[in-house]
Amino acid sequence: MKKGFMVVFDGSNGAGKTTVIKSVEKYLLSKGFDVLLTREPGGTPIGEKIREVILDPQTPEMSFMTELMLFGAGRAQHIQEKIIPALSKGKIVISDRFDAATFSFQHFARGIDLDTIIQINDLALNGFNPNMNIILDLDPAEGLKRVQSRGEGLDRLEDEKADFLIRARNGYLKQAEQSPEKFEVIDASQSKEKVLEDVIHVIDVLLGKHL
Ligand code: TMP
Repeated sequence: MKKGFMVVFDGSNGAGKTTVIKSVEKYLLSKGFDVLLTREPGGTPIGEKIREVILDPQTPEMSFMTELMLFGAGRAQHIQEKIIPALSKGKIVISDRFDAATFSFQHFARGIDLDTIIQINDLALNGFNPNMNIILDLDPAEGLKRVQSRGEGLDRLEDEKADFLIRARNGYLKQAEQSPEKFEVIDASQSKEKVLEDVIHVIDVLLGKHL
């Protein structure tokens, strides 16, 4: 039976995930693969409602634990409703963020202790794991400039102080250092063309391994 695999794109806000994901989708479709694009927070109707609650800049009072559990709740739904069925049909699932973001933002940036993060995340994952996390690494100050130049408002997390976003970035780099088999870090300050070339190289290696 065909079995799909799952790649996550993650990293600093404004690092170019959306553009890269669209190009990777095009690349995979041109090679005849069945691709499912999804995202977190979000990905399902329930997850998209949870996303609105999590990112609402009007509710700065949300407690860190509420935030963590909402990300977990959305993830549990996402895996069960969308990801597992797609993988079992042999699709390549590409998610814009997944559980590495919880470690970076809720642990490294917010400071929730690691055991609590692991407990909630393990409940959400229920034994599931993506095959690879591709981190588009960028200085968050540069990322925010890019977000603002697109004329978009800041969500509740982007509105955090600069050192919060720096801790989140360093969180990704630490995870990549600790689990090199699950992470690839790409320098997103390079030209768009070079970033895409580096990403496609990683995707080709994954295709070689999984198909
Ligand atoms: P996005 O703007 O890339 O869609 O991401 C939404 C925000 O949610 C972004 O600031 C990162 C944050 N986030 C977490 O804090 N924890 C998580 O588990 C996920 C998936 C995202």
